[in-house]
Amino acid sequence: MRKIKSGIFGLNPLLDGGFNENSTTVVIGSSGAGKTTCATQFIRRGLQEGQEGIFVSLDENKEQIIREAIEMGWSDILDYLEDGLLVFIDASGREFSNFIRKELPAFVADWKGANTRIAVDPLTPVLWSTKDQYEQRDLIGFMLKETRRVGTVLCTLEEHGPGELTGPETIIPMYLADCVIHLKYKAAEGGVIRLLKIIKARSTRHSELSHPYKIMKGLGLIVDSNAYKRELTTKIPSQIRAVLQQKKPLPKGIQESVQKALEGLSDEDFKTLKAEHIIESILAEYSEG
Ligand SMILES: Nc1ncnc2c1ncn2[C@@H]1O[C@H](COP(=O)(O)OP(=O)(O)OP(=O)(O)O)[C@@H](O)[C@H]1O
Ligand SMILES: [Mg+2]
Repeated sequence: MRKIKSGIFGLNPLLDGGFNENSTTVVIGSSGAGKTTCATQFIRRGLQEGQEGIFVSLDENKEQIIREAIEMGWSDILDYLEDGLLVFIDASGREFSNFIRKELPAFVADWKGANTRIAVDPLTPVLWSTKDQYEQRDLIGFMLKETRRVGTVLCTLEEHGPGELTGPETIIPMYLADCVIHLKYKAAEGGVIRLLKIIKARSTRHSELSHPYKIMKGLGLIVDSNAYKRELTTKIPSQIRAVLQQKKPLPKGIQESVQKALEGLSDEDFKTLKAEHIIESILAEYSEG
């Protein structure tokens, strides 16, 4: 799986190097969590690499998004716009839903193989363009499936509940996306607490921890990945490997494949499991009778 840099500082190590190319990511967060900032960072990172960017804004108009980006210190956005590398689509949820139904396939055929970055901010109005849950699933599923054919996709999603990801508006996109990132944002004494957590990420290893993040002018979201990096550098699988070698209990072919599977795993992966228990389970699986 090829990785692309997310543009969000500190996030790549948590995703084993970045987003998988041509994958779909949903970033969920309440108002003010940093969704639009995150989407802009993602698109801008691609632009810096010469990749085209398509920003679909469903809540704010193009001018507003640009104004916010400039306020952030990212006025190079204007050059990318002028060069035609960056394209904005601003529409209402209903207009964009109709676009998905009627025009998306032709659009995809046009842009196919372009390897762009696409941001949809936020996806919520698309979901709300119909009451029927089956239709919602169909529409979002179709949109994600089609857009990933022309690039790597990041959609943001509003969270209206208490921050536990149980709201009906979050469930469907969470199932359909390849990667789900939760931005948790709570008012606290003396300021706010912001935490980023990767809820799922298909076809990659990833952090399962909650990571503090900040939003800073000039930088955007910056995630503290230290806790995860520290654990990656200590190697517990060597302990498991030692047990395996000691007992020599498995047929050679299986022993080799198990050892291969353990390569590259680390402390973080075995945090809550004991090495002996893992070995016992593997032995039980392959033992005769
Ligand atoms: N220029 C800036 N300098 C410093 N911090 C900023 C700047 N712009 C935004 N922020 C911080 O980012 C926060 C929200 O960013 P953003 O607009 O990305 O959130 P959002 O999740 O998209 O919110 P909404 O759901 O309301 O659209 C602001 O409340 C502020 O704390
Ligand atoms: Mg926003």
